[in-house]
Amino acid sequence: MEESITIDPTRCSYEVDNNGYKYMSIIVNCSLGPLYKKVIFDLSNDEQMGHIQGILNDHNDKNPFIGFINQLYIRQNFRKKGFGTELMKHLCADFKQLGVEEIRLLVEKNNQPAIDLYEKFGFKKNGERGEKNNYLLMIRKQKD
Ligand SMILES: CC(C)(COP(=O)(O)OP(=O)(O)OC[C@H]1O[C@@H](n2cnc3c(N)ncnc32)[C@H](O)[C@@H]1OP(=O)(O)O)[C@@H](O)C(=O)NCCC(=O)NCCS
Repeated sequence: MEESITIDPTRCSYEVDNNGYKYMSIIVNCSLGPLYKKVIFDLSNDEQMGHIQGILNDHNDKNPFIGFINQLYIRQNFRKKGFGTELMKHLCADFKQLGVEEIRLLVEKNNQPAIDLYEKFGFKKNGERGEKNNYLLMIRKQKD
């Protein structure tokens, strides 16, 4: 089946937090499911600091409703300042609002900074993945 991606401009929004950071949220319809993307900017100069992206799976009665985090990136100069944590908080909150029961992600086994960050959010290691077993599957069950 051919991949199809469409951006609905009415599903693009901005919010500004108390620290003067601007978040742009975009919801994209793609054939795998709705894609949620958040980009964080420094409001003082509109510089992009990083982004996070998540996707929702098709769910049915048998499977839990799963949200996947498939991208998290903070630009080098802005790392270790809490922005990765902020973006994680935002996407996890969006997923919760949407009724997601379980969040999953894949992370390279040697990416300790990211693993530490995910563990702080309650993600647990759930086995190895990838051709060379070089990725970890991490899962967080959403609490009520
Ligand atoms: C992983 C990444 C998103 C973290 O973003 P960040 O904004 O620097 O993270 P934060 O400042 O919010 O840090 C939160 C926690 O992550 C962990 N962490 C982040 N950077 C770390 C580092 N260099 N070494 C060890 N732990 C680190 C720490 O536990 C940290 O908590 P602490 O500040 O209390 O020690 C960022 O390093 C990055 O973009 N890396 C490249 C892309 C990538 O690897 N993405 C993940 C793909 S799965």
